[in-house]
Amino acid sequence: MVGAGERTVHVRVPATSANLGPGFDTLGLALSVYDELEVTALADGALEIEVTGSGSEEIPRDESHLIARTIRYCFEAVGHRAPGLRIVARNGIPHGKGLGSSGAAVAAGVLAAKGLLQGEAELTDTDLLRLATELEGHPDNVAPALFGGLTIAWTENGVPQHKKLLVHRGVAPVVFVPDHTMSTSRARSVLDPEVSREDAVFNVSRSALLIAALTQSPDLLMSATDDRLHQERRAQAMPETFALVGALRARGFAAVVSGAGPSILVLADGPGRRLEAVDVAAEATDGSWHPLMLAVDFLGGTARESVDARMEIPGDGS
Ligand code: HSE
Repeated sequence: MVGAGERTVHVRVPATSANLGPGFDTLGLALSVYDELEVTALADGALEIEVTGSGSEEIPRDESHLIARTIRYCFEAVGHRAPGLRIVARNGIPHGKGLGSSGAAVAAGVLAAKGLLQGEAELTDTDLLRLATELEGHPDNVAPALFGGLTIAWTENGVPQHKKLLVHRGVAPVVFVPDHTMSTSRARSVLDPEVSREDAVFNVSRSALLIAALTQSPDLLMSATDDRLHQERRAQAMPETFALVGALRARGFAAVVSGAGPSILVLADGPGRRLEAVDVAAEATDGSWHPLMLAVDFLGGTARESVDARMEIPGDGS
């Protein structure tokens, strides 16, 4: 058996877009831009961190590093002492833009811990989602980051659960990423603590419809992405995002705030429509919004041991 002190694990996790309009804190979509890292367990208890790519200037290289904290949290959760760590990360996911970069870091951490603990402790998919949610606070980003596809996430008796769905191939995502960032805690602080029954019913209907639109009937995406719970309340914190969502929706594109913003996700009903959305966004803005033509990632996060390439640890695909 290979011990944790000798292992290197390669991890790859996708970006995610949470909420998808009405599915606040519940729905999420994995998208084809990735963070990749190599994590080595060190016998001497040291912590070495190298980061390149998006957000690398702001990311700490000490004990507060989110992936290192997550790995240690997982080891402690299964009663093991965490080893020293060398983490070499290449961040492709835009940082602080509403594309699940912190959820991806947490997902990467739990997958790395699973790989490093292989043969010593078992972390099931339910454990991975629970541990990741404990650290991230809500499961809507970590579920698609771990398992891929479109995910519905909910909590039952305090335990986060997920259901993965395949997205209709007629759905073509494009994300518009601005130069500025937004903190999730700020975006959450402006939300109302209570909502009316009318608005709750509105969002229940649209969330249910959205599952049908994304899996069977992309022609329903406009109605299905409408929301009354969070986006309008957040407009004060990100007026440019709100204005561009409005401009795109006025032209018939299913545009929503991606996660807590400030990026925008458009769920176009076909690749041609996606190009039209790019033109509309270019006309409506000043060049500081960057389109990313993405695919839905169906695989989710993966971890692969480099010692002898025996291990492949994707999400369960359920
Ligand atoms: N559901 C979360 C929110 C996603 O909108 O605040 C951000 O992590």
